[in-house]
Amino acid sequence: MTTDSAQRKILVTSALPYANGSIHLGHLVEYIQTDIWVRFQRQRGHRCTWVWADDAHGTPIMLKAQELGISAEQLIADVKAEHEADFNDFLLSYDNFYSTHSPENRYFAELIYTRLRDGGHIERRTIKQLYDPQENMFLPDRFVKGTCPQCGAEDQYGDNCEKCSATYDATELKNPRSVVSGATPELRDSEQFFVKLKDFEPMLRKWVDSGKLQPEIRNKLEEWFENGLQDWDISRNAPYWGFEIPDAPGKYFYVWLDAPIGYMASHKNLCERTGDDFDSYWKADSDAEMYHFIGKDIAYFHTLFWPAILNGAGFREPSAVFCHGFLTVDGAKMSKSRGTFIKARTYLDHLDPEYLRYYFAAKLNNRVEDIDLNLEDFVTRVNSDLVGKVVNIASRTAGFISKTFDGKLAEALPEPALYAEFVDAGEEIAADYESRQFGQAMRKIMALADKANQYIADAEPWVLIKNDETRASVQGISTQGLNLYRVLVNYLKPVLPDLAAKTEALFGAGELNWDSTREPLLGTSILRFKPMLKRLETDTINKMTDASKEDLAAAAKPATGPLADDPIKDTIDYGDFDKVDLRVAKIVNAAHVEGADKLLQLTLDLGGETRNVFAGIKSAYQPEDLIGKLTVMVANLAPRKMRFGLSEGMVLAAGPGGKDLFILNPDQGAEPGMRVK
Ligand code: MSP
Ligand code: ZN
Repeated sequence: MTTDSAQRKILVTSALPYANGSIHLGHLVEYIQTDIWVRFQRQRGHRCTWVWADDAHGTPIMLKAQELGISAEQLIADVKAEHEADFNDFLLSYDNFYSTHSPENRYFAELIYTRLRDGGHIERRTIKQLYDPQENMFLPDRFVKGTCPQCGAEDQYGDNCEKCSATYDATELKNPRSVVSGATPELRDSEQFFVKLKDFEPMLRKWVDSGKLQPEIRNKLEEWFENGLQDWDISRNAPYWGFEIPDAPGKYFYVWLDAPIGYMASHKNLCERTGDDFDSYWKADSDAEMYHFIGKDIAYFHTLFWPAILNGAGFREPSAVFCHGFLTVDGAKMSKSRGTFIKARTYLDHLDPEYLRYYFAAKLNNRVEDIDLNLEDFVTRVNSDLVGKVVNIASRTAGFISKTFDGKLAEALPEPALYAEFVDAGEEIAADYESRQFGQAMRKIMALADKANQYIADAEPWVLIKNDETRASVQGISTQGLNLYRVLVNYLKPVLPDLAAKTEALFGAGELNWDSTREPLLGTSILRFKPMLKRLETDTINKMTDASKEDLAAAAKPATGPLADDPIKDTIDYGDFDKVDLRVAKIVNAAHVEGADKLLQLTLDLGGETRNVFAGIKSAYQPEDLIGKLTVMVANLAPRKMRFGLSEGMVLAAGPGGKDLFILNPDQGAEPGMRVK
């Protein structure tokens, strides 16, 4: 039983990771934060269910699958398996991890849409959108680039400018081009579906005034209200990877419509399995609590759209949305080149998940503040707090019990008042967890750990054990130390479930559940103490950041296809590229080279200039087949002296090699000497 009066029924979600990329430490800020809170609630005896999913729809996922040459279904299945392995290894205790590409999600997306439509909250309007005439598709904002209409910076995305931070409509970009094909997009009319967000303003205002939102989020909402709530475009044109809108063939639900509905779908899927009562959580007058953990970048979707569409469709609204800030590493945005863009798996290859869980806990509070992972501080904090303070209490005392007292704890504590102080701190620490002030909870726990260590240092059991008259007192001192340790591990259990499990095994007195340390363990036997946490070495951190730099090279490298074995080289800037002078050349002669088994000697006409080039394409071509053909050459490559003579350039060819090597052949109408780019 808990000290809280009644058992609460709580439903928790984390934001759904996109199904086209790996989990990184940034995501883990949120997922570890959620896990700590959920574990805490359960440890207090509440019914707390955590459901989430992969966010599996949208253009980027469609294009990523195409790029990899696999189906979207295959991509999302592969990524889901990878994500779940990461989550399990980070000890996340979710109840269901599902997918937005699921029958349940289609059902609820259609249901919510139909109810909104029938309630008069959806409007159809024809708008102008950018269209890629080559790929025959409407282009989402992120798939158009061009010159910023505000500051003139080149190469900016269709939604905002990275130089001047201006936000604009993709149609306002100067010199727009499609990221997919490079073609110049056209403006085309297209009918879209809008949710009239203004309909929900009174309800949203009430929700904001309920006092359950963080002050930062409240202020943001006030700002959005002042600027006027905009209608929300929930439809996208084919080709799109998502759910087709039931009464509008060729139109799909925008990924951000069905993404939060994925929370419902995952919960429904869980309830089907467990027999839990789904409706009791989601009906308009539900007495269950519902919380969404999210990052600050997606607050708009969760604090305006989501409550509005839930309300419009007759469901309950969230009890609150818990928004966190962004992760920086060593004070800066995670960086691939510095090796601080660290994937979950790379971390796990080198380090214990509990180190990061503790570090994030120590840094987290209930505000929308960015949190910094300082790698040096990380090492110090883990070693001094977890190894040096907490586990140290047990490792300094357990040995005496095992070696001298036959594994038995004493029958009484020498300092019951000190024990009572540790127990009494429990409610304040619980209040910190409840309000997501994890950092504050960790500080209180470490202050207690200091006290426990001080107690042992003052008692000096290692001195007393040497003397026949004082030896017996060491049993009591050690029992005191071990019981204090047990209370602290109870309080740390939401953060350090593995350490808690090892500690539970050490004492053999069942699971720690917050109230289970109200009374000390006396006269019982403990197991022999085994080291519970290793010290963290700086060297390991360096290995991890080095491996993250390697990930970067590998990231450009898909699992299959030509790039798998031959990854793309480091990027060059435009200046480097501009130096390469590519020209159309006519092969006026081609001949075998005496003594060379790979080379052909080509005579190339550049439209007024003749070049001699040795090309390694003999296995693929007979010389006579090449004569008269046009090809592309690097015209300004420095001449190279080879065994057979001077080579004055290079022809471009593609293919796996051997017989499958193709001279790049310019289009009809090209003339020797023409510039290619
Ligand atoms: N798919 C959407 C969420 C849909 S929820 C109905 C999405 N996905 S995401 O993969 O980009 O991000 C998932 C969560 O991780 C978001 O809450 C996001 O804020 C969080 N984080 C992603 N990068 C982060 C950091 N660098 N730091 C902290 N949180 C970060 O958004
Ligand atoms: Zn700009």
